[in-house]
Amino acid sequence: MDIEEVLRIADGLVFAKTGKHLEHLQKTVLTGTISGKTYPEIAQEEGFSESHVKNVGHELWQILSLALGKKVTKSNLKAIFKTVRSNNLNASISVVCNNNPTLKNINIFAGQEERSPATTQNYEPNPNQPQIDLGDAPEIFSFYGRKDEIATLKGWFGEERCRLVELLGMSGIGKTTIAIRLIEQIQSHFDYVIYRSLCFSPTLETTLTNLLQNFCQPAEIPPLLETQISQLLNHLRSDRCLIILDDVQMLFRSGELAGEYRPGFENYPLFFTRIAETHHQSSFLLISREKFREFSQLEKPPYPVRSFVLGSLGAGIKEILMEHELSDEDNWGTLINAYQGNPLWLDLTATMIKELCEGKVGEFLQYETLILCESVRSQLEQQFQRLTPAEQAIMIQLAQEDAPLTLHQIIKKCQFNPAELLNAMQSLGRRLMLETNDVGNITYFQLNPVWKQYVKERSQG
Ligand SMILES: Nc1ncnc2c1ncn2[C@@H]1O[C@H](COP(=O)(O)OP(=O)(O)O)[C@@H](O)[C@H]1O
Ligand SMILES: [Mg+2]
Repeated sequence: MDIEEVLRIADGLVFAKTGKHLEHLQKTVLTGTISGKTYPEIAQEEGFSESHVKNVGHELWQILSLALGKKVTKSNLKAIFKTVRSNNLNASISVVCNNNPTLKNINIFAGQEERSPATTQNYEPNPNQPQIDLGDAPEIFSFYGRKDEIATLKGWFGEERCRLVELLGMSGIGKTTIAIRLIEQIQSHFDYVIYRSLCFSPTLETTLTNLLQNFCQPAEIPPLLETQISQLLNHLRSDRCLIILDDVQMLFRSGELAGEYRPGFENYPLFFTRIAETHHQSSFLLISREKFREFSQLEKPPYPVRSFVLGSLGAGIKEILMEHELSDEDNWGTLINAYQGNPLWLDLTATMIKELCEGKVGEFLQYETLILCESVRSQLEQQFQRLTPAEQAIMIQLAQEDAPLTLHQIIKKCQFNPAELLNAMQSLGRRLMLETNDVGNITYFQLNPVWKQYVKERSQG
């Protein structure tokens, strides 16, 4: 690669993002990394400490990630610059930067919908814009695919004016990511956009106080829960608000059937029901790994309430594998299917393939069993621990089977009473942990390959 060209492109991007040109050490780290040098080698040559060089590197990759809307790391740097160069957009960077030196967001992949950066992530207050409070929402560096899913959700929040939408999906499938992308695309229709994660299981009082702070001074927030709800509903009527509550599964109890609220949290379903049933002009998006029981009652006319289950990322996953510079593209389909098109699982697995098999997917897939990296296993273990004994027994049974089972076969094979097993089956369905296949009028149940492998290994001790 032409180093001068790389420096020119990088300088344009950094200037667009920070208003400053590349400094000497940033240039050295960049050119050294492109030439295959390690941080210790660069540190020695330049007479700096290793940690200082590392920090400069990390900071630079972060600025470049923000400027490009793609995660830039030491290992994918070269590939990214090749793409930038082959897109022949470097000329336009300098034009944009020269014309607008204070520009904070630059889209080098302009025109390529899937790759555009999260341009609203600066959230600077603007009197003509909706008030946006995304709290601790994660920053999104790259976004691929999901066109149909976004279109459906946009319709629900747009023309259909849904008051309550649940967005469901297994861990790592991309719920938070799509929600943040959706916010960017629909925020102009709202007066307020508020995102909160319930990952630390706040009480309803805490959540309402937190939400109300967007509309009034803390001293004006009433102490009583009932009055807090009424006050929030007044705001939902007078303004069009989009409120996203993420990680709602953290309100549910471990060791109980899906959707059972923890003690002290039983007023949440009453609140959600009020949101669905009361007249107002706002929308709530609830994001969870487990279905809400109350939705089965609410999700029918006349209530504007909908459920969306997020599945495989589909072809978008290839972009993630490309970011990791994996090879053997013919085998990518097998890898993607085995890991359910789950971007998090595939990202973690791609890292393992890169580190242990030099990026060769064929080599990684040559083993008889599916290999699960430690991060995936620990995530699955956490979820397995939340199941009831009957649910665990069903999972263990299904993991041992070569072929899918009918409900009748499951009841015969597991040592629990039928009522308990039927409830456990319904609960596993609500947790999206079962795959079903209808043949004629008979439903067959099985586990997806990742769960099957994990439970099998776990049972073997
Ligand atoms: N559409 C997408 N394009 C690129 N990366 C994605 C996409 N969806 C998810 N990811 C990546 O997958 C990982 C898990 O996504 P996340 O939204 O946190 O999942 P969830 O909220 O369902 O647990 C994140 O690292 C995210 O960057
Ligand atoms: Mg999430």
